[in-house]
Amino acid sequence: MAKKLWSGRFRQSTNRLVEDFSASIDFDWRLFREDIAGSIAHCKMLGQCGILTEEEVEKIVDGLAEIQREIEHGEFEFDHALEDIHMAIEQRLIEKIGDVGGKLHTARSRNDQIALDLRLYLRNTIFSFLRLLNALKRSIVNLAEKYSETIMPGFTHLQHAQPVVLGHHMMAYYEMFKRDSERLKDCLRRTNVMPLGSAALAGTTFPIDRKITADLLEFPELSRNSIDAVSDRDFVVEFLSAASLIMLHLSRLSEELVLWNTSEFDFVSISDSFCTGSSIMPQKKNPDVPELIRGKTGRVYGALMSVLTMMKGLPLAYNRDLQEDKEPLFDAIDTTGACIELMARLLGELSFKEKRLLEEAEKGFITATDLADYLVRKNIPFRRAHRITGEIVQYCIEKDKKLEDLDLSELKEFSNTFSEDVYEFIRVEASVRQRKSFGGTAPALVKRAIEEAKEELDDEEKRLEI
Ligand code: ARG
Repeated sequence: MAKKLWSGRFRQSTNRLVEDFSASIDFDWRLFREDIAGSIAHCKMLGQCGILTEEEVEKIVDGLAEIQREIEHGEFEFDHALEDIHMAIEQRLIEKIGDVGGKLHTARSRNDQIALDLRLYLRNTIFSFLRLLNALKRSIVNLAEKYSETIMPGFTHLQHAQPVVLGHHMMAYYEMFKRDSERLKDCLRRTNVMPLGSAALAGTTFPIDRKITADLLEFPELSRNSIDAVSDRDFVVEFLSAASLIMLHLSRLSEELVLWNTSEFDFVSISDSFCTGSSIMPQKKNPDVPELIRGKTGRVYGALMSVLTMMKGLPLAYNRDLQEDKEPLFDAIDTTGACIELMARLLGELSFKEKRLLEEAEKGFITATDLADYLVRKNIPFRRAHRITGEIVQYCIEKDKKLEDLDLSELKEFSNTFSEDVYEFIRVEASVRQRKSFGGTAPALVKRAIEEAKEELDDEEKRLEI
């Protein structure tokens, strides 16, 4: 084993346990592309600033490109003794191109290097999440369009509340995931800041030009304080909190799918290819995918809590604790990404049972609010209309009748204002059609919202080059 690159001031070699304990290579190897891209940009900048010769730059850049090829082809051995991906690549570079490889780390520290790698990695992840979220939003909008006139019971307290159209219910999820995309873009603004050149914490004595590095790596901004730049993981926390909200939304949708898939609700049919059976009960078809998405939500919250807690007591500037940001971050990325993709695909194959939805929409005195509104339109104050309607509902419960079963003479017992037109007014179709206030469930409005959403998705796809 070659000597450690930092071993100059050490008399004894590192304890084996310490090597294993402190190594991060098992998980940070996945930063290799970002690490190499960052090193190439750094090296070119050193060349442009006259700190390295052209020839040196060429040797280093070629060596790094070759190492990238080795890693991609599985020809690279990741050794615990080399601690992390930065040391592994640098050591290999020196092995390959000799002493000149040792010039790469001029005016740089692993502290600003890891901050750069993580920002580059997260920037790519944010773009891939935006694409995944778009596919999910497409699935949602397609369902909303298919069911833009399908009446279902709307719930509050999980009790029948007022009729809505299913398209409107689905578009509620569109709004949530749209906010998630916006949150990620906002997080991108603060992730997209170039920290290299901060070195260990204080900056460097070499005449570097950080702007060159930033341009090469397409960063619009430079970090403005070297101490902050190597200590800051706010962008990780922001990303994890955006991911937590994505999971929260996916989990609520999953919960509804699980509920709607029960024989008691029987609103929806999840495709066989997204369910599994039971090893003992032959009749079972379980909604495992939404259950697992719901279950995995806790993991992503856990990642957020881990990083928040890891950060809270750290003095400035870099501390090794910061290495603990990676495993929760990577796990949250893998988990959230997989959950978005699976939900998008599951929704693509979902079908709703329209007859059942309508059947349930007609239960539970669901148009009682419309009945009260009817009286208000005839100039009865809403509070009084509410009371009268409540009494009618009570009467129906006692007589085991629905609102629309009552004949006019029965209704008139409660208020003289009722006339024949009340029956049309309290039909579920009329109920949804009349809810035309902006953002309401009237199918005409829902269709407009769907059209707008489709335009938003087209624009976004152009921007993301999907
Ligand atoms: N592997 C470390 C991390 O993930 C980066 C290296 C900085 N190490 C150091 N001893 N200064 O944060």
